[in-house]
Amino acid sequence: MSAHSATPADSPTVESNIVGNLAELPLGGMKLVKVENRRLCLVHISTGVHALDNACPHEGYGLTTGQLDGELLTCAWHNWKFRVSDGRCVIGEENVRTHGVDVADDGTISITLNEPDPAELRPQLLASLRRGIERDYIGQVSRDIVRLLRADANPGELIWEAVAYGAPRAEFGWGHSIASLTDCLSMVDHYDGDDRALPIVQAIAGVAEGERDRQTRSLPDPVSTLPPDPRDAFRRLVESERLEPAQALVRGAIHSGADVDTMRTWFTDIVSDHLLSYGHGAIYAQKAFQLLDRIGWDRADTVLPHLLPTIVYGTREDKLPYATMFMRGWAASDLVALAEAAASPDAAWTDDGRLLTALLGPDRTEAARAAVAAITAGASLDAVLDVVTAAVSERMLRYVVAGERDFHDDFGWLDITHGMTYANAARWHLAHAGPTPDLVRLVLWTAFLANWTGRHEWHTTVGRRDEIEPRSHDLAAYGRSLQHEALLDGTTAFIVHAHAVKMSVSATEEALRLGSTSPLDATARFMAAPKLERFVAATVTRSIDFLSGKTQRDC
Ligand code: FES
Repeated sequence: MSAHSATPADSPTVESNIVGNLAELPLGGMKLVKVENRRLCLVHISTGVHALDNACPHEGYGLTTGQLDGELLTCAWHNWKFRVSDGRCVIGEENVRTHGVDVADDGTISITLNEPDPAELRPQLLASLRRGIERDYIGQVSRDIVRLLRADANPGELIWEAVAYGAPRAEFGWGHSIASLTDCLSMVDHYDGDDRALPIVQAIAGVAEGERDRQTRSLPDPVSTLPPDPRDAFRRLVESERLEPAQALVRGAIHSGADVDTMRTWFTDIVSDHLLSYGHGAIYAQKAFQLLDRIGWDRADTVLPHLLPTIVYGTREDKLPYATMFMRGWAASDLVALAEAAASPDAAWTDDGRLLTALLGPDRTEAARAAVAAITAGASLDAVLDVVTAAVSERMLRYVVAGERDFHDDFGWLDITHGMTYANAARWHLAHAGPTPDLVRLVLWTAFLANWTGRHEWHTTVGRRDEIEPRSHDLAAYGRSLQHEALLDGTTAFIVHAHAVKMSVSATEEALRLGSTSPLDATARFMAAPKLERFVAATVTRSIDFLSGKTQRDC
């Protein structure tokens, strides 16, 4: 017969352990005890003796150093408060686990550890994870992710929680958070056990931080009957910036059974019609489909319609004055003929230096001509992308970092990185679509971006190439080390973190394709270099310029 006992709601699974005697624990007292390598906080209050995990869920400091007031225990470190009878967190983010306590007639206290089967806890943990994402409580998210991984949750399912929360809230459609979700999910493969939490939590943190307190945006109903040529109709809707009809059509196609191959062609079409927002249209479409490959096509009706705003309303850079000179270089070219040439390339083609030199030079028209000439001379589109990647790597290795402080110009480190991620995205679209006229156009845009991201060199000086010592000549290992580094909070602003993540992933793929460390060396330099992160001072400078009647410099 027990004198006092307290049993937590979750059923205990192990036998009881004697931890002391009531005579040693006066009313209002607390004591640290150890059971099977687990530290517990034993508390004696008027309702009985209770046992809680001693590690505070906040940052793990011991609860026995806290203050007891009735049945409320306040952690000494940051003031979280817990009800000792059931571990409920009254102020703070997360409950603390309680354990079964039995006090025998002779005062012997024994504890039965409460260790519920993790798999049975999964629904509770998922609900807690959702609350953590919603409130942007990264500590709670992080602990729940570790618990869920221990309960054999699939990493893709955990990332899906961030997709389901973030996609309907993204104000202008999916942005960098989608790229990070995809890239971080791919990085999970580099880790084992609990360490898999790092890329997952980094990915979720971006969404939680970016979309907190935003209204959800509803989608239009799917069209019930598809038009005769839905792919073409979709393309025209996007071209005329009719977002809701385009979303309704995508949803209608998905609901009527369109598969991933079909929908991919629709999205490759619309991201090759224009150079969208420094390449982001093509990049985000690539990441969205890669994400769906991992989390399942049945999530397409959430991912793809919410991706559309960023593409429909993306800046069409090819319509801006600065693109005119580049377009002059291929205006006379027939994209169909170029696609035919690219379909039967000369395997022996290599750049004799002319394309690389033109891409790195200041003459935009010449850059376009050189890209067209390469395709005509037998270069495959992949081979052109190889040179684009080499040019962007070179730019990043010689970027004069002082340019970050030229607040009158909005150009900086992040802009150059897009040259690499855009080329990588074009390569992904090419792998699925083949060398069509649309893909020729897309590849030519990557050549333009590689050229245009040199514009800082045209009004300053060309920097000296920074000779980076490769971390490894095992390219995959080198890439993994940079991807890991991108997850280690070396950046403060999410936007810069997201660029480090996507750059490290695309540079790994490009380095493996090229058989060269250059893309990785360039990424290592970018990650180690001083960078603007907040952009407040730069924005103030440009606001003053704007209100003084000055415009952005146009090379
Ligand atoms: S460690 Fe307990 S409140 Fe911070």
